[in-house]
Amino acid sequence: MTDDSAPALPDTFLWGASTAAHQIEGNNVNSDFWALENQEGSFLPERSGDACDSYHRWPEDLDIVTSLGLDAYRFSFEWSRIVPAPGKVSQAELAHYRRMVDGCLERGIAPIVTLHHFTNPRWFSDLGGWQKSENLAHFLEYVEAAATILGDVSHVVTMNEPNMLAMLAAMVAQGEREELVAGAMPPPDAEVSARVIDAHHAAREVLRRASDAQVGWTIANQNFQAEPGAEEVAREWGWPREDVFIDAAKDDDFIGVQAYTRVQLGPDGALPIGDDVERTLNGWEYYPAAAAEAARHTAELAPGVPILVTENGIATADDARRKDYVRESIAGLRQAVADGVDIRGYFYWSLLDNYEWGSYAPTFGLVSVDHATFERTVKPSGAWFGDLAGRGGVAP
Ligand code: BGC
Repeated sequence: MTDDSAPALPDTFLWGASTAAHQIEGNNVNSDFWALENQEGSFLPERSGDACDSYHRWPEDLDIVTSLGLDAYRFSFEWSRIVPAPGKVSQAELAHYRRMVDGCLERGIAPIVTLHHFTNPRWFSDLGGWQKSENLAHFLEYVEAAATILGDVSHVVTMNEPNMLAMLAAMVAQGEREELVAGAMPPPDAEVSARVIDAHHAAREVLRRASDAQVGWTIANQNFQAEPGAEEVAREWGWPREDVFIDAAKDDDFIGVQAYTRVQLGPDGALPIGDDVERTLNGWEYYPAAAAEAARHTAELAPGVPILVTENGIATADDARRKDYVRESIAGLRQAVADGVDIRGYFYWSLLDNYEWGSYAPTFGLVSVDHATFERTVKPSGAWFGDLAGRGGVAP
């Protein structure tokens, strides 16, 4: 158990929940992930389908954020909707996402907009995706278009988990789909990583010119922990999978920390999770120290860059266990702040039970969704989390 004695977080601390377009909107028929889900004999057990129908029901989602007492909402734009074909920008879709930004501002919610959350337009993947240097220009055209409606948002995330994106690109290129345990994935192709880093830096320039938003990106942090004697292995393991992307954020306005669990490393790499260890619904070790450890690691690698914990949460059917996880996670973050780590916000993943990249089974939400009627029901942990936020993270 983490010591729970650290002071409350300040009033300026942002409290929110996160989502991503493909996981909640429904019918993102022009995205490459939709194509993967719907192909004959797909290895993915479930299709996203209508998801949570948030493409239409976003005002209700924002009302829930408000009713929980949260003051920020992280959501993403869907590139494949905004640019349905190369060079063709949909003004109607831009207007749709601008209505969402306005919906946040009208409710006093800080909009944290992610421009790229894993999915690419089908046409982009058909052109070779992130493997091809000439495709970078397509991403930047999209960023230019999106930047026209982002002038007054508080934070923009150029890309979500570029390290996962780059590792997935390597796996898809090699035709491997088995090992989706993030910490144990093969390292990304260094060229793809460099391209994605270039994409981030170029997008940051575009956004800084066009908006007043704080610009950053969010990294998947696995908390690589070395067994005694494996310290050097852990350093070499962590650099291409994670640290190179944190290093690339040194001149950003903020960096997003996303952490759920840890990965222990021995001399030969990632170690299996022990049989007696508690696991969450997606098979990860229950490890509520993850967010604070990841924030401390990030602060060491990118000193002086303010941190937002843009994702942290647990997939569980036991809602009381969700409270345990979040309570302990936030106690750890309060302690990190007391120790001088510059953490300015916490976003629970996720607002809604949603499409977890192939399955609806791992339920992360503060709010459950009936996938036939789309009715939303706030879970006890949702109301509890809002209350915790109001107390600066100090549990009663
Ligand atoms: C992603 C989310 C995902 C969550 C839980 C993060 O890697 O950004 O899209 O649902 O983790 O797996």
